[in-house]
Amino acid sequence: MNSSLFEAFRQGVLPWYEQNRRDLPWRNTRDPYAIWLSEIILQQTRVQQGLPYYLAFLSEFSEISELAAAPEDQVFRLWQGLGYYSRARNLHRAAKIIATECGGSFPNTLEGLLKLPGIGPYTAAAIASFAFDIPKAAVDGNVLRWMSRLLGSDAPIDLPATRNWIQSELDEWIQKVSPHLFNQAAMEFGALLCSPVPKCVLCPLQEHCVSFLQGTTQTIPVKSKKVKVEERFLYAFLIQNPRGEFAIERRAKNGIWANLYTFPMILQETEMSEKDILNAVLSQKWVSPSLERLPQPYSTVHLLTHRKLKVHIFSILLKNMPKNASIFERWISVKGAGELGFPKVFEQFLKTQFPQYAGRI
Ligand code: ADE
Repeated sequence: MNSSLFEAFRQGVLPWYEQNRRDLPWRNTRDPYAIWLSEIILQQTRVQQGLPYYLAFLSEFSEISELAAAPEDQVFRLWQGLGYYSRARNLHRAAKIIATECGGSFPNTLEGLLKLPGIGPYTAAAIASFAFDIPKAAVDGNVLRWMSRLLGSDAPIDLPATRNWIQSELDEWIQKVSPHLFNQAAMEFGALLCSPVPKCVLCPLQEHCVSFLQGTTQTIPVKSKKVKVEERFLYAFLIQNPRGEFAIERRAKNGIWANLYTFPMILQETEMSEKDILNAVLSQKWVSPSLERLPQPYSTVHLLTHRKLKVHIFSILLKNMPKNASIFERWISVKGAGELGFPKVFEQFLKTQFPQYAGRI
């Protein structure tokens, strides 16, 4: 263990945290349910965006048993706008497991936490330390960044060997202080001071930081590979019937939008020509075969971690109810749509088209 760096951290960052920490509601509780909820929400979401969702979930489900008993649609509806819906699905699944297999109480060991869906080593360590004061360092991208800079390390932080080494070093540090305080301070330090563009002038570790002393804070941390972002092409159809309702489908149980509702859509790996899109529409037989061209689409680009989605949504007004209306899973009014979980890109579209749409964003 690097004792001098640990001492610098203990004497510099812990008091800095006490003085500068943001007052966030999950920092004022030891309730594992509330802490877990905050950690799942914050996995891929910034604090300011996640905060209202955290409050909304707790006010809807004040206890985990209420979350476990809720219909899945209600959970998705509350999650609407946050994206990465597998988190909502896992949240609900984990709540059910706790209700049925753990007698309603949250696991209070790292091993128990790690068995739950949606909880990996980082989240398990965060919950274990915040709720139960278990000394396990919660190592995420923020922590890898400041440790790499402090040590002046150019070991790529996306390699397991680097993570393991930093984890084992910090697991020794955390033994020597309050685990709860250590992990909160470590996160806050990475979020507020040793951020991607660091605020070195304010940093209590300045004189100990190899990267600061060598002028390498812009190039550290290092990553071995760039995330490969692939393009996908989404063609979706807002099909409105004469009653003003539109057709929706529920996506299958796998894929990024599993179990969510979308408009009828085609997802492709390559771009489609206008003619091919029109033919795809005509082959569905819910518009008259005389339709010669598609309307100008609403077009946008939606970025996901590994995907760049190029989205085109076509609005089609049907003059009559289609004879084979059952080809659509469901028709829904704009008001009813606000009750369902739609992926963010559809929500944004609905919001621009229908001011009365009452989704979350
Ligand atoms: N990001 C992940 N967990 C967090 C926490 N407990 N506080 C602030 N930001 C976080």
